[in-house]
Amino acid sequence: MLSTTEVHALRAAAVAVRQNAYAPHSGFAVGAALVTSDDRVFVGTNVENDSYGLSLCAERAAIAAAVAAGCTHIRALLVIGPGDQPVPPCGACRQWIAQFGSGSCEVLYGCVAGEVKRTTLAALLPEAFTLAREER
Ligand code: THU
Repeated sequence: MLSTTEVHALRAAAVAVRQNAYAPHSGFAVGAALVTSDDRVFVGTNVENDSYGLSLCAERAAIAAAVAAGCTHIRALLVIGPGDQPVPPCGACRQWIAQFGSGSCEVLYGCVAGEVKRTTLAALLPEAFTLAREER
C-alpha cells in the first residue's frame, strides 16, 4: 500500500506533467505518474495525433517511460484528468497496467479539482488476460 506521502508525491507529479499534455483535439489534458517495485517514479501525458485513433493515453506514456528505463514492474499508478470528476484509466490502459503489474497493483485516479479514488488493478480489470511468463 502506498503511504499518504507517496500518494501526495504521485499526485503532484501527475498534476505537474499534465501541464505538458498534448491534447489539441480533445482539450482533455491528462497526467499520469507511476511508481515501480524499485521505487522509481515515471510520468506521462496524453499525446494526441491528427489521425485521431493514434492518440496515446497518459498512463501508457508513463509505462513506456518506465520500460525504457528498464523498470517492468509497477507497484502503483495514478492518473489525473481535468475538471472535478475522477478520470479512471481507459480499458486499453488497464490492459497495459496488467502487463507490468499484478492484480494487487494500486490504481489511483482523480482530477485537478477533486479527490483521488483508490482501487486495484484486479478490481478494474478482473480476470485480466496475460500469457504465462517468467516473473516480470
Ligand atoms: N485519455 C488518457 O490519457 N487516459 C485515459 O485513461 C483516458 C483518456 C486521453 C486520451 C485523449 O487524448 C483524451 O484523454 C480524451 O479521450
